Amino acid sequence: MCGIIGIVGESPVQDRLIESLKRLEYRGYDSAGIAGCVDGQVERRRAKGKIRALEEVLASEPLNAKVGIGHTRWATHGAPSETNAHPHKAGRVTLVHNGIIENYAELRDSLTRRGRTFESETDTEVIAHLLDCELEKKPPIEAMKATLDQLTGAYAIGVLIEGEDALVMGARRGSPLVVGYGDGEMFIGSDALAVGPFTNRIAYLDEGDFVAIDHKTARIFDETGQPVQRPVRTVAASAALVEKGNYRHFMEKEIHDQPDACQHTLSAYIDPTTGKVQAPGGVDLAAFDRIQIVACGTASYAGSIARYLFERLAGLPCDVEVASEFRYRQPAVSPKTLAIAVSQSGETADTLAALRWCKQQGLTTAAVVNVHESTMAREADVLFPTHAGPEIGVASTKAFTSQVAALMALAVAAAAARGRIDAMEEKRLSKLLLEAPRLLADAAQLEDEIRALAPELAKARDVLYLGRGALFPLALEGALKLKEISYIHAEGYAAGELKHGPIALIDEATPVIVIAPSDPLFEKTVSNMSEVAARGGPIILITDTEGAKNAPANARVIVGPTCDPFLHPLVYAPPIQLLAYYVAVQKGADVDQPRNLAKSVTVE
Ligand code: M6R
Repeated sequence: MCGIIGIVGESPVQDRLIESLKRLEYRGYDSAGIAGCVDGQVERRRAKGKIRALEEVLASEPLNAKVGIGHTRWATHGAPSETNAHPHKAGRVTLVHNGIIENYAELRDSLTRRGRTFESETDTEVIAHLLDCELEKKPPIEAMKATLDQLTGAYAIGVLIEGEDALVMGARRGSPLVVGYGDGEMFIGSDALAVGPFTNRIAYLDEGDFVAIDHKTARIFDETGQPVQRPVRTVAASAALVEKGNYRHFMEKEIHDQPDACQHTLSAYIDPTTGKVQAPGGVDLAAFDRIQIVACGTASYAGSIARYLFERLAGLPCDVEVASEFRYRQPAVSPKTLAIAVSQSGETADTLAALRWCKQQGLTTAAVVNVHESTMAREADVLFPTHAGPEIGVASTKAFTSQVAALMALAVAAAAARGRIDAMEEKRLSKLLLEAPRLLADAAQLEDEIRALAPELAKARDVLYLGRGALFPLALEGALKLKEISYIHAEGYAAGELKHGPIALIDEATPVIVIAPSDPLFEKTVSNMSEVAARGGPIILITDTEGAKNAPANARVIVGPTCDPFLHPLVYAPPIQLLAYYVAVQKGADVDQPRNLAKSVTVE
């Protein structure tokens, strides 16, 4: 995840920009840069590599500015280089950005036709040009709104405008941005930690908000351009890294962190410029004839989703097993099996033991792990990273979707490596994956509708979850989420399996949650819903616009984003997470630390 800092200061900002960027190093980066207003002009300094390299540039060419922006870049569009490093400049605009602009290629083409030239390969530079074009016709606030209206994707940005010497602007959609309130100085940052050295009074921007800060004020606007107020809170700077922001619980925050976590994770697998998808660590996925996934709990459901894709897209047989069984079963494995352990913590005892067992058998081992210094990350032959950042809530959310995103990318990479898809299809699928952060943000916007279902659902003693295909594991995950934080008994079933037993449980008091956005199997799920409806079972259908048209008459319908079915298991995760979350809140449960559970299970 790229890091952003912006300061409208009373004294020189160079050292403070650097101090803040150092705090953001934990997010991972491969270049850094700062820019500031100097005598009415904006100057910038950038360097590939660590902040140390930027400091060396600044030692010979200091930036004598009192207003500035800074950025640590994690390369997505374009390799790590000084030219691709932020800030990017176009005319009067100098800009830093975190996220992905999905429609950048179309925007770049249209800007090129209008005579604009680009110096970098980044998607970011198109925003700078767009804003500069708008500034030819409009004042900064209107120009910002007009620019944001043209962007598709998930992003946070920070902006300097030449001629506006005491102004920094920012905007967010999908990626977080905070405003810091100082004493005669104001700040923006990609998280509370970025502004932590300077102030502990912080406002979190809402989805779609944009902001203009000067020395004393922050003018915040919502996505329609209406001025809005966002509450200013006092945070403990030392705790900022694991701060809940405006959220009541870490779990809620982490649900909303998912666009960023997913985008950062995908950037380790996809080159958005070429559309190529690759396994990190130089692993040749064509060298294997089978995949064995081992994991526990939520991570095993991420693995089960991946199984559908490894087999369907890549034609690669894939087994998924809970590690606690696998490790003692003495399974028969073929030598050309790639063993993949999936784990947020990288320390789960059963998964670690299964990974070690595979190693002993001489298999190539990989670890899809979020904690990169963990034992699994160190012991596996190769690390397939997720970049979800620290996950505090015991109930896994952003780690899960990051695992799913990484595994989906690996399935595409395997399909390409094995010649099962051509370059065009690889590009199409990688483009779809890069839309996931925006769609995850859209899905999380269903929060209010989902909250409204909680009072009724909280009364249930048993709840069933149904899904088909790759949404079946998501049904299992939905049931696990509800169980672990609300203590309501819940089970996930493959929708077609209902009539083979579980249908006996259906009555007026047993809600059935059906995860079924429209796809080729949707009609079959409609039949299963009819079976439930005929027995008086209350149905909550989580679907898309098309699916909603065929919802049973008595169903409560939650309409999520419309997207390619390939993305459904990822994009439809936030609604089931929010459902569990609000039911648990309704029941007054300890959401972040549910009874009897530990975040990392290092015992058998
Ligand atoms: O750290 P890991 O991903 O290996 O943890 C595996 C499970 O313990 C974990 O996913 C557990 O099921 C969570 N509480 C689910 O929310």
